[in-house]
Order: sequence, then C-alpha cells, then structure tokens
Amino acid sequence: MNYRHAYHAGGFSDVMKHGIECLILDYLTKKEKGFVYLDTHAGIGHYDLHSDESSRGQEYRQGIHKIMALPSVPEEVQIYRDIVGHYYDAPQKLFYPGSPLIAKHFMREQDKLILNEFHPEDSQILKQVFRREPQVHCHQRDAYEFLPAMLPPEPRRGLILIDPPYEERQELSSAMKLLKQGIDKFAQGVYLLWYPIKDYRNETAVKILKQARLPADSLHLEYFHQKPETDSNKLIGSGVVVVNPPWPLKEQAAVFLEQMVKTLSKAGEGDQRITIL
Ligand SMILES: C[S@@+](CC[C@H](N)C(=O)[O-])C[C@H]1O[C@@H](n2cnc3c(N)ncnc32)[C@H](O)[C@@H]1O
Repeated sequence: MNYRHAYHAGGFSDVMKHGIECLILDYLTKKEKGFVYLDTHAGIGHYDLHSDESSRGQEYRQGIHKIMALPSVPEEVQIYRDIVGHYYDAPQKLFYPGSPLIAKHFMREQDKLILNEFHPEDSQILKQVFRREPQVHCHQRDAYEFLPAMLPPEPRRGLILIDPPYEERQELSSAMKLLKQGIDKFAQGVYLLWYPIKDYRNETAVKILKQARLPADSLHLEYFHQKPETDSNKLIGSGVVVVNPPWPLKEQAAVFLEQMVKTLSKAGEGDQRITIL
C-alpha cells in the first residue's frame, strides 16, 4: 500500500468524484428517512494542500483551485463548492476535504457514516478526525472483505463509495467484482465507483464495466482532461459508475461535467461522455 492520496488531493479526479458524491447525497437528504454513507477506501478525511506531498505535483491547481476561482457556477457545482469553501480559502487557508468529510456535511441526526481505511497510519488519522462524532464509525479492514460484511446496512438506504488506489493492474476487475457482491447483498443501494482513465478511447475499461452486467440503468460518466502524451501512462481522465442513480443525476452530472471541460481541461482536448451501461 504505497498510494498516498495527499499527492492527488483536489485534482480533477477528486473534483469529479466529490462533485457527483455531493449531488447523490443532496438527493438522499431530500427525504426524512435516514441514510447510510459507506466509504470502502476512505483516506485520511482531509488534506493540507501546503504539505510536502500535495505541494509536489500541485494537482489541485489543475482542479479545485480553478473551480473555486470562478466568479459563479451553476447550482449543480455550487453544492460542492459550498462544502469545499469551509476548508479552502486561498491563499491562506488551503485544505481540501476528502470523501468522508464531504459526506459529513450532509449528515443529519438520523444518518450514519461507516468509513474504512486499511493503511494503519491513515486509519489512525481518520479516526482522530472523527473522534467526536458518535454517528461516524471508522474501521481498518481490507475493503474486499469489509464491504460484503457490512451489507445490507441499517437503515436500508444509502450511498456506497468504492474508491480504490488502482496500484494493481487488475484492480478495476476486482473493484467491479466487489461492486457486484455489494449489489447482491444490498440491491437498492446507490453505488459510486471511481476509476482512472489513461487512454482517450477508454475501450479496455468500458469492456470490463460492460462484462459486469450491472443493473440496466447504471450510469457511466467519463471526463477527458487532455489527450495522452506518446508512450505515457499518465492519468488523462476520470471515470465513475453510478448504480441506482437518483433520477435527476444524469442531467445534473451533464452540467457538472460541462463545467469541468470548460474550466479544467487542456484547451481543445477536453471532453465528457455520459452513457447507460
Ligand atoms: C483514492 S484513495 C481514497 C480517497 C478518498 N476516498 C477520498 O476521496 O477522499 C484510496 C485509499 O485506499 C486505501 N487502501 C488501499 N488498499 C486498501 C484496501 N485493500 N482496503 C481499504 N483501503 C485501502 C489507501 O491507503 C488510500 O487511502
């Protein structure tokens, strides 16, 4: 487990993943009934963008920094910006909230957060961040045994985020298998799975996603940040799969991704696609 999210915090992948997370959680809070937010790879909760790790690649400068600098944005993006704004007020205050801290902003009395992080030190940091929150439960387990053990949750309504580090070549196949196991145990849950895009046509990943035969209305969102450089294994885009998407999500995501293409991507190289899997 060499992956450290601090190097990538606030980059374009975080913007996409966390923006969609906000739209789903916002929808879940529209009903009185409580929800569970389950995060299989939770990270450390929040990130100091002045830290050595984040300062190195400064990925946030190609991501959240540009979104926060816009004079105004559509409502679909503002929900996310409002939450990040609690942590990010450049140039002095430069923190970025990870997925669990973003989820905490939507939590009401009747809701619950279940967070899992396998890395021993990161898991301790995460526990520390949430130590005063009785509705937040932190675990240190391997996501691949943790998720099936936690499902179905109580209450039986909620969002499951699957956000692996993709250090292993086969991790997309493994993550899709985990997603399928989740659906088998908790069919009505909303699932959000993130994966990296390294090839402009993205055919290999799409093939793996299709082979999983997900429920018929699963959404597949793709954001292309730039064209690949020759012989490079660089991240050029970001993909998410949403199983059981709330009904307005397709249109909301289109607005969100359009904003990303306009604001973040390399001139003339950005693109977005929304398909049903
Ligand atoms: C992409 S980061 C998570 C970022 C976080 N979800 C966010 O959006 O703020 C992936 C995390 O998974 C952790 N991890 C790696 N292997 C794991 C495993 N088998 N089970 C659970 N966590 C794991 C890493 O330590 C890392 O913190």
